[in-house]
Amino acid sequence: MKALVYHGPGERAWEEVPERRLQAPTDAIVRIDTSTICGTDLHILKGDVPTCRPGTILGHEAVGTITEVGAAVTTVKPGDRVLVSCITSCGRCDYCKEGHPGQCTGGGGWIFGHRIDGLQAEYARVPFADTSVYKVPEMLTDEQVLFLADILPTAFEVGVLNGRVRPGDTVAIVGAGPIGLATILTAQLYTPARIIAIDLADARLARARQFGADITINNGTEDAIARVMEMTGGQGVDVAVEAVGVPATFELCTDLVRAGGHVANVGVHGQAATLHLETLWIKDVTVTTGLVDATSTAMLLRLIEGGRLDPTPFATHRFPLDQTEEAYDVFANAATTQALKVVLTAEPVEAPPAEAAVEAVLHGG
Ligand SMILES: NC(=O)c1ccc[n+]([C@@H]2O[C@H](COP(=O)([O-])OP(=O)(O)OC[C@H]3O[C@@H](n4cnc5c(N)ncnc54)[C@H](O)[C@@H]3O)[C@@H](O)[C@H]2O)c1
Ligand SMILES: [Zn+2]
Ligand SMILES: [Zn+2]
Repeated sequence: MKALVYHGPGERAWEEVPERRLQAPTDAIVRIDTSTICGTDLHILKGDVPTCRPGTILGHEAVGTITEVGAAVTTVKPGDRVLVSCITSCGRCDYCKEGHPGQCTGGGGWIFGHRIDGLQAEYARVPFADTSVYKVPEMLTDEQVLFLADILPTAFEVGVLNGRVRPGDTVAIVGAGPIGLATILTAQLYTPARIIAIDLADARLARARQFGADITINNGTEDAIARVMEMTGGQGVDVAVEAVGVPATFELCTDLVRAGGHVANVGVHGQAATLHLETLWIKDVTVTTGLVDATSTAMLLRLIEGGRLDPTPFATHRFPLDQTEEAYDVFANAATTQALKVVLTAEPVEAPPAEAAVEAVLHGG
């Protein structure tokens, strides 16, 4: 089988790797039908995630078909189409039991394409299958559910829920990449009065408007703080979501928030950011951080099934799975390619249609 293997900073290759095998009775083997690339994969390739060792297959988002299950797996069987999430839950540790599988200490958490081989591959070994995968309703396409593997639960849980977005709120979202856009999309579940998107790239701000932002501000050319204060009568926003991951944008969020408001940090930070307590101490502000737990996945899936949430506009580019290397080039150059999410699709495995089978018999094909 083939897979996209990380070989150390800047090095990756789509290459032959050993077949996947069950290692524990709770494992399943999944044939990957559809996968995608995350900004975090680019962080790994830059060398920002040293816990990901060279030789690891990348990828933590996929939809696939179960081909084999271990003896202890009881809720899925070969042939089932499942969503494989970025978060694996052992189901037994204290964190999993209290609903925080992102922090799992029993061998789960963010493991795919990080601590174990990932999902940009023809097949994957999926630990703790019973407590970690989601059966995909037949009526939904892979592409309709694929973004539930990471960006939607991340944005919803770490941005919207941690930020306590409420009806009537003014919400500022700093960063309009896939995570910021997914925050714009899922914040609307709570009917904020106004969503303000802030980014340096006009193309991303145009996307933000498509996803539901009411107001957009390019903070490279405009004074974002002055504009937001003008719009909010000098108060600031109820909720500011940081969806970039650099010190300047975290500090911008703490400048934008009103007294009593919430700052929800979603961005992965590689450098120290300053928490300005000399101005914030008096403001009753709540700052939250977090890794996704993906505990909202089943709920978001029901919204997609019910036609209330449509994540398909995230898919901007499509590639066959064996062109994953080309897909990385397009995804990594989003400023020129305008990529949001690239969809990688394996060749369908289907029985030949009856007519073709008859033809084959008649013509000895
Ligand atoms: N906490 C979690 O569980 C979790 C999960 C997934 C991703 N993330 C993180 O979320 C962040 C966003 O992810 P993404 O995939 O959308 O990233 P991205 O790089 O695609 O998007 C970031 C956006 O921020 C904009 N930007 C950059 N600098 C800016 C600035 N100074 N001011 C305003 N905008 C600026 C860029 O133009 C871009 O549109 C990343 O840090 C990612 O690692 C966190
Ligand atoms: Zn991710
Ligand atoms: Zn656990």
